[in-house]
Amino acid sequence: MGIARQATRRRPKTAAVCTRAGRAPTTHCGSQEMTAGTPARIDLAYLRGLKAAGRKFAMLTAYDYPTAAAAQAAGVHALLIGDSMGCVILGHENTRRVPLDLMIVLGEAVRRGAPGVYLIGDLPYESLTAGEEAVLSASRRFCTEAGCDAVKLEAGSGDERLVARLAGAGIETIAHLGLRPQTVVSPDGYRAQARDAAGIRALVSDARRMVAAGAAMLLLEAVPNEASQAVVEAVDVPVVGCGAGPACDGHVVVTHDLLGIRSLRVPRFVPVLADIGQQMQMAMRRWVTAIEEGRYPAPEHAYRMKNERAPT
Ligand code: KIV
Repeated sequence: MGIARQATRRRPKTAAVCTRAGRAPTTHCGSQEMTAGTPARIDLAYLRGLKAAGRKFAMLTAYDYPTAAAAQAAGVHALLIGDSMGCVILGHENTRRVPLDLMIVLGEAVRRGAPGVYLIGDLPYESLTAGEEAVLSASRRFCTEAGCDAVKLEAGSGDERLVARLAGAGIETIAHLGLRPQTVVSPDGYRAQARDAAGIRALVSDARRMVAAGAAMLLLEAVPNEASQAVVEAVDVPVVGCGAGPACDGHVVVTHDLLGIRSLRVPRFVPVLADIGQQMQMAMRRWVTAIEEGRYPAPEHAYRMKNERAPT
């Protein structure tokens, strides 16, 4: 598969320590020991530093504390509280029915698990279809309640004004271009985008407009290598690819897809690196069998009385 699994990595010394209001820099991030010169908390300047140094960064989705902690310990740079949770953990066919309130609560758990990563809140359909004020309020909640560093929005033509408003409010904003899952209502609707010259021109033009409006980063989903290459050459902000080829500065996939946790639809660009869903099922089967066969609970699972005498 050609994907090296490594527990730690050196980070460029140019990166700044995050000192955003309300969050003091720490010297130790959760379970991940940081080496000298590594920021206690990854921020945009650090990710820009990686890009400038020609180094790539790794991003994953997370919707809970243990997954976030594992990701940080593994050296993942950025986590996305993705609305993919609608499909992945809520079992819906599309990403449209994810309540903002749920994302905020789960986002808080993710931040507790991974205090040192660059954390991004994904603006849900519910907020994006409720007008500019709702988007602003949701973005502020992601930052103040869930401790996010940035928000991401699936951006269509005409959304520059929204991006500009978010940027103007001091909110780091990631414009998600290419395939935008919130526009897809049934599983067969997921299609690669910008697959011809006209499509690439349109994508580059959208990318330029989003960056001019103040987007701090771009995310490209399901586009050919030529399209991401053209976008990376056209803009100076970090570009994250989700099935968008090697030119991107960072790469993201849905963690459940990566780990083989019973995903309903795993896109072709995801390298499935584990079989956790199968392992869960096997362990649960052993639990059922142990109970059915009377092997559980065994003596080592029992509490003992203090005086060794049962009441008469
Ligand atoms: O919601 C999500 O998980 C995403 C992808 C980019 C992974 O938007």
